[in-house]
Amino acid sequence: MKRLTALCLSATLAWAGVTLAEEHYRASAPDGLRQGGTVAETQPAPPMAGQSRESGREVLNYPEQPPVVPHNIRDYQVDLRHNQCLTCHSRENAVSAGAPMVSVTHFMDRHKQVLAAVSPDRYFCTQCHVPQTDAAPLVENRFQTVDQVLGEMLRESQGGEP
Ligand code: HEC
Ligand code: HEC
Repeated sequence: MKRLTALCLSATLAWAGVTLAEEHYRASAPDGLRQGGTVAETQPAPPMAGQSRESGREVLNYPEQPPVVPHNIRDYQVDLRHNQCLTCHSRENAVSAGAPMVSVTHFMDRHKQVLAAVSPDRYFCTQCHVPQTDAAPLVENRFQTVDQVLGEMLRESQGGEP
């Protein structure tokens, strides 16, 4: 009798588990980056952002910011043997290409020792430098530039509203 009860109980639990899993499967997905639908549904990918903005060099938001790339980088190859960014931005090529040279920090290794060539630490340029598009932000962004932060601190210290 005891065995039968245990068997019934485990069957009921298994059934409950399956129903629960099924429910999760059909649950509507949160409206995050992927809008609507259920968790299991495959939806068409959103369209790619358009061409990058070519608006000229942009003001930095804080002193150590890697400047954003002010030009298109489509098909610019960066791999083990070839770094197309350096065909314009390297020390030797920058002047003739009319491009800003990579700064001295790009020649430093992790001990701040300046090397003769761009440091391997800085080889993959797009790790830090990215072009900008006019795509709408995917999530709310309350980033403030260093000037906005300083302005706010100044107002507060003078007793103004934060
Ligand atoms: C054909 C030459 C060329 C190539 C290749 C090139 N750039 Fe540039 N880049 C330029 C020029 C010219 C400027 C300056 C644009 C201006 O003044 O409007 C520039 C500007 C920049 C800046 C802005 C610097 C600043 O201080 O604002 C960054 C960052 C940059 N490029 C990164 C890259 C990266 C990363 C790659 C490779 C994926 C790359 N560039 C490939 C020519 C090039
Ligand atoms: C680890 C992050 C990182 C990587 C990788 C990197 N950079 Fe930078 N880059 C920066 C930062 C931060 C600055 C601004 C401060 C500075 O000069 O160090 C900068 C500045 C620059 C500037 C502006 C220099 C100036 O004097 O105004 C150019 C051009 C540039 N980088 C190009 C490149 C190229 C080309 C590569 C790839 C070979 C590259 N960077 C790789 C972080 C990076």
